[in-house]
Amino acid sequence: MPLTHTRDLFAKALKGKYALGAFNVNNMELLQAIVEACEAEKAPLILQISKGARQYANPVYLRRLIDAAVSLTTIPIAVHLDHGDTFELCKDCIDEGFTSVMIDGSHLPFEKNVELTKKVVDYAHKRNAVVEGELGKLVGAQHDDGEEGGGYSKGGVYTHPDEAVAFVKATGCDSLAVAIGNSHGAYKFKGAQHLDLERLKAIKKALLEAGLGDYPLVLHGASSVPKELTAEINKYGGKLGEDTAGVPEADIEVARRIGCAKVNIDTDLRLALTAGIRKVFAESPKDFDPRKYLGPARTRVQELVRHKVRNVLCCAGHAFD
Ligand code: G3H
Ligand code: 13P
Ligand code: ZN
Repeated sequence: MPLTHTRDLFAKALKGKYALGAFNVNNMELLQAIVEACEAEKAPLILQISKGARQYANPVYLRRLIDAAVSLTTIPIAVHLDHGDTFELCKDCIDEGFTSVMIDGSHLPFEKNVELTKKVVDYAHKRNAVVEGELGKLVGAQHDDGEEGGGYSKGGVYTHPDEAVAFVKATGCDSLAVAIGNSHGAYKFKGAQHLDLERLKAIKKALLEAGLGDYPLVLHGASSVPKELTAEINKYGGKLGEDTAGVPEADIEVARRIGCAKVNIDTDLRLALTAGIRKVFAESPKDFDPRKYLGPARTRVQELVRHKVRNVLCCAGHAFD
């Protein structure tokens, strides 16, 4: 089965009111766990590869591993570049056959972000590839403090609905990653903070009213950082802080119903893999066969992905829509 285009996956997800999981791949065990989980749940899948993953595993290894996964499964699988930071990286990926890339110009001033994103869009669209842009900054807790950081001010950190419309119109990007209080990693919020779902609704509404239809929004930093995983890691010798915090799964469900078509998850995979490895190291310190610790760790990631696609993203059972 060939790779699937994210354009097809997004259209079906928005119609069916489910979200696609975009899971980060760095090595064979993560890839097997993700793909086997989605196969078991009959869930459509986006595999995403960061610049760091390409540097760690080598693009050719990753591509061949994904080819193997695709040949061994029946579900639709798309491959996407996560957080492309230059035109050249996006171009390389498109030339290698990626049908979806992200250009992350969110750190740039608005006009520069538009310019860079449009350049990637122009290149991609001529080659049947699509582009995810990003507007706003995923900075998390320290900026969620009103007008200065998290308010509706045009220069603010959170994505402004009117700017989202202007950005999509000016760049022609096919999906948009938004900043609504989300952030990467295992330390997302302080205290009772969580996502600004009203802002998400306002962005979606503004895009609809501007004639851009049921426009696909993307939620980065969507790991929920389960307490039982961080506790297990620490029980077996880890030193994660007391203040780990992720996006509550209930918030992801609301975001999905508002129209987030793609939900990015990496940290939770890392936590599950680490918990699995640490448990074996602690309980069987005489073992040194990598299969003895990577095998159980892979199973932990698989269980986590099955839970996400079934209970949170609700894309299980939609592989053949
Ligand atoms: O958002 C970033 C992803 O978690 C990828 O992380 O750049 O360490 O591969 P990475
Ligand atoms: P997490 O760190 O919350 O898993 O986010 C991953 C992500 O956004 C990848 O682009
Ligand atoms: Zn991200």
